[in-house]
Amino acid sequence: MERETGTREMLCVDHVSKVFELENRKRICAVENLSLTMNRGERVMVVGESGCGKSTLVRMIAGIEMPTGGRILFNGKNVPDLRGEELRQYRRQVQMVFQDSGHVISPRMTIGEFLREPWVCFERKSRREADELVRYSIQRVGLDETYLRRRPHQLSGGELQRICVARAIALHPQLLICDEATSALDVSVQKQILDLIREHVEESGCSVLFICHDLALAENFGDRIAVMYRGNIVEWLSGDHLRRQALHPYTRLLLDSVFSIYDEPDKPIPFLPEEDVRFCLPEGGFDENEKQGRTGCLFCARCEWADEECRKKCPELRQVSPGHFVACRKRSPIV
Ligand SMILES: Nc1ncnc2c1ncn2[C@@H]1O[C@H](COP(=O)(O)OP(=O)(O)O)[C@@H](O)[C@H]1O
Ligand SMILES: [Mg+2]
Repeated sequence: MERETGTREMLCVDHVSKVFELENRKRICAVENLSLTMNRGERVMVVGESGCGKSTLVRMIAGIEMPTGGRILFNGKNVPDLRGEELRQYRRQVQMVFQDSGHVISPRMTIGEFLREPWVCFERKSRREADELVRYSIQRVGLDETYLRRRPHQLSGGELQRICVARAIALHPQLLICDEATSALDVSVQKQILDLIREHVEESGCSVLFICHDLALAENFGDRIAVMYRGNIVEWLSGDHLRRQALHPYTRLLLDSVFSIYDEPDKPIPFLPEEDVRFCLPEGGFDENEKQGRTGCLFCARCEWADEECRKKCPELRQVSPGHFVACRKRSPIV
């Protein structure tokens, strides 16, 4: 069933880059000149291999990391320029859930103290009022009040993740960012966490930016999907179109790599040909210093379609049908 999403643009990532300067004078480009928009109430999924810059992108959106180029507009205001009360309000409106919640909660805190924080910090509630709200929060994620007295090491991974979701949604943020929030959980717990998020999103109309590796989940949960490769979006399309209409060779390769329980045991697993080691790092990003003078498509060294032209010029994201953008000159019908 088609869900109605707001048409008003809430987030605009406008030609954003992030270059990390390392001690050995190397410069890693984790996100390169990337643009993306999100409407109110929309669910956007970001997929791509480890190290392609997904976390760096969402950390910049959350205001944890500063971009080295471009603008990130949230309701029209540039996030890196926010200061004082505006920044405080932004931190309230944009909440993040991480993969490893065990590290997010201080081992010295009780779960009750952790859940109380947003009410005290943002709503200036008294301890008594906050405790009342926290009891409601924890019940909402299916845990009972006895958990409030426990410390993080006394909870399982799935329970910790519920606590983090409970805290993230407590103050009804406009944007919920999930950075592989379900990747470390077994499938039944993953489903519980997703149901929680889904339920909240449907109730509150909040937008979700969700990073995952699971293409079936991206397709099922997302309105739109951004496929990232080495700091760039190489394909941007509707969740409904992923399987049948994806065009970029990298997206196709990801789709072909998905295992199915119906697969023949001896089905060959597709693999990426060896990377151009001259400028790529062992895991993700690319070395800015080495990239100087290189102009071709980032994927061409691993692409079966690539020709001389692909090695000369980096393709831009181009619209191939309404809402479907591809950065590939060989596979996009408009050349
Ligand atoms: N703080 C940092 N300092 C230096 N390099 C970083 C930092 N954070 C990320 N990187 C590098 O940026 C690239 C992208 O990382 P990341 O955004 O974590 O990728 P992903 O989330 O897609 O796995 C990687 O090469 C990573 O090593
Ligand atoms: Mg990551």
